[in-house]
Amino acid sequence: METANVNRSHWSSRWAFILVTAGSAIGLGNIWKFPYMTGTNGGSAFVLVYLLCIVSIGLPLLMAETMLGRRGQGNPVAAMGAVAREAGLGRYWKIIGLIGVTGALLILSFYSVVAGWILEYTLRATSGFDGITKESAAAGFAGLLADPLRLIAWHSLFMVMTVFVVARGVTGGIEQANKIMMPALFAIVLGLIGYGMVTADMPAAIRFMFHFDVSAITREVVFSAMGHSFFTLSLGMGAIMAYGSYLDKGTSIVRTCFYVAIADTAIALLAGLAIFAIVFAKGLAPASGPGLILQTLPIAFSQMPGGSVVGPLFFLLVVFAAWTSSISLLEPFVALLIERFSFSRKRAAWATGGAVWLLGIAVALSFNEWSEVKLFGLGIFDLLDSLTTKIMMPLSGLLIAVFAGWMMQRRHVEDEIALGGKGFALWRTTLRYVSPIAIVAIFLHVIGAVG
Ligand code: PHE
Repeated sequence: METANVNRSHWSSRWAFILVTAGSAIGLGNIWKFPYMTGTNGGSAFVLVYLLCIVSIGLPLLMAETMLGRRGQGNPVAAMGAVAREAGLGRYWKIIGLIGVTGALLILSFYSVVAGWILEYTLRATSGFDGITKESAAAGFAGLLADPLRLIAWHSLFMVMTVFVVARGVTGGIEQANKIMMPALFAIVLGLIGYGMVTADMPAAIRFMFHFDVSAITREVVFSAMGHSFFTLSLGMGAIMAYGSYLDKGTSIVRTCFYVAIADTAIALLAGLAIFAIVFAKGLAPASGPGLILQTLPIAFSQMPGGSVVGPLFFLLVVFAAWTSSISLLEPFVALLIERFSFSRKRAAWATGGAVWLLGIAVALSFNEWSEVKLFGLGIFDLLDSLTTKIMMPLSGLLIAVFAGWMMQRRHVEDEIALGGKGFALWRTTLRYVSPIAIVAIFLHVIGAVG
């Protein structure tokens, strides 16, 4: 059945929607990926482009994707089918939903492995990282990557956790989980910033992230920053569309999306500051890559009073942040199986989770046994990361901008985005011109067609 289902579950309030959507947006992207990408992409240059992308592409698209979900009232594929029909267009627009639901599963396969690292570090942190040094921290992380069974065990646990919540349903599972985990996360990030101010090198961190050295902006920086702005706002992967489909008609999309974008950006910047303050105070390398937080934070926790309590607490909250995001990566496909193939929610969640779990095993092995397996010069982990964040997300984002900006009837858009006068015109213009042109320009750059 592709017809919209009017009896779908709905979030219990406007705040619930903000919370779950922020829960989707705020995740490993903010606390793990943003700091290491900033580190490997020249610091402030990356931050500057990232912020520009959030404002000019990310936020307008976040609103557009939420709108498509709510208007379409269905899983991403059905929702796109419904809005396309309403606009008098063909079924091929469902491709947006398809790219989304499959991309989300690909992301989840490596996301879960990384979340597994964090689970391991939650456990390690309970011993306080006594006597850890720069060298032993790096060796400790390398040791984890070299151990396939450990990686797979943690990945399995994390997938079970994710499936468990999604199997419980929209309000009973997803909303409940977010209501507990999100406020705790905010508190601990603020605490860590406080620590950075008092004992670490906050001025150096601020300089590194905000002196805005325009000359350091390279093609790679621009492409990475755009990809990351999609990743961090959960765009183009059906997650936002699925969550939007559970949103009440009366809630303001503009206001809620605005809060989500602000919260997401704030957490990324704060996490970045806290981590770089420690990096510079301890003479660590900002460009050390995906292991950055796992090589820096243990050193801080080993030295701070009460570190063996704060440490595990912090990593646990990163697990929570990852969890609320992974739920949103699984839900779109699960909703599709339920609505289109009449699966029970339980069966849909376990079946999808099982498939993603298998792919995740390949990801885990790509760090050790299968490290030689390469496609286009990339290992399995890097390949899935690049394919999703650098290609599928921008492509889907482009199609969403074109659809919402050019294809939908204006009165339907106005009906959803109740933003009078100038605000509406600004949003629509950005969506119609700025976002697509920026995405296409960046694509062309990368393909080397221009510049
Ligand atoms: N936004 C999440 C994060 O930053 C990741 C994510 C991407 C979640 C796409 C859902 C969809 O960690």
